[in-house]
Amino acid sequence: MITVTSVGAMKALCREWKTSGLTIGFVPTMGFLHEGHLNLVRESKKRTAVTAVSIFVNPAQFGPKEDFQKYPRDLARDAALLEKERVDVLFHPEAAEMYPPGYRTYVEVQDLQDRLCGKSRPGHFRGVATVVLKLFHIVEPDMSFFGWKDAQQVIILRKMAADLDLGTEIVACPLVREPDGLAMSSRNAYLSPEERRAALVLSRSLAAAEKLIAAGERDAERLASAIGSLIAAEPLAKLDYIEITDMKELRPLARLEGDVLVALAVFIGTTRLIDNIRVHV
Ligand code: PAJ
Repeated sequence: MITVTSVGAMKALCREWKTSGLTIGFVPTMGFLHEGHLNLVRESKKRTAVTAVSIFVNPAQFGPKEDFQKYPRDLARDAALLEKERVDVLFHPEAAEMYPPGYRTYVEVQDLQDRLCGKSRPGHFRGVATVVLKLFHIVEPDMSFFGWKDAQQVIILRKMAADLDLGTEIVACPLVREPDGLAMSSRNAYLSPEERRAALVLSRSLAAAEKLIAAGERDAERLASAIGSLIAAEPLAKLDYIEITDMKELRPLARLEGDVLVALAVFIGTTRLIDNIRVHV
């Protein structure tokens, strides 16, 4: 595996692959890798000739009071994991390489960026869309791989790719969970043992919601209140939001119909965790 830190060198390498007819798969990440990330890498390896992974903790997607500084980082461990997966190139730029002094240009995916997580993290998806567009221009991937863990992110990036004629296929891969149900996340590293146990309330309440839907529940308000009371029963948990929306516009539904997203954000102590299920009714 080659490690590249400069934008110019990464562009040159990917151009070279392209001109020799190789298809490029791309997995953007912020590092501190887990099986959720590695599953995206494996999917890319299966479907494309060469695989590029980026590790960049993107300052533009963190709010001023968020965890940019303390976001977990371990490049040596990550590089070893990617080497083992036989990744071809790791792109790991410095912040000043991506956002040199005087940087001015940002991308917004209107409306979609303001829903769900966008309400509690203003500016977050503007930062995500901007960095991903920059990375797409650097790598020019044929296919790029994202996880349903971040369902809103997938929906926003697909819209951006369509609206801006990006020509990279956005492949969305299943949400990967720990054996006990907790959605894998780099931020799980923040949890104390007691919080780790409390964090199961997210997947547990979504599993309960799935059962209610299977039993015929179609009323969004009743479903949300069933989830809400399970979360309220966990003393270490504080609800940020429960949203039951369609999968295209991310608009709240009154009745469940078609492809539905049930998404949650919950603070466990000071750590904000998200989880979701997608159901077809
Ligand atoms: P990060 O949180 O590191 O996630 C990188 C990719 O891994 C995303 O596509 C995310 O959805 C996926 N992922 C994370 N946990 C997962 C899980 N448990 N199951 C399946 N997929 C999972 O998402 C970001 O970074 C950033 O916003 C980024 C797109 C890199 C832009 O900075």
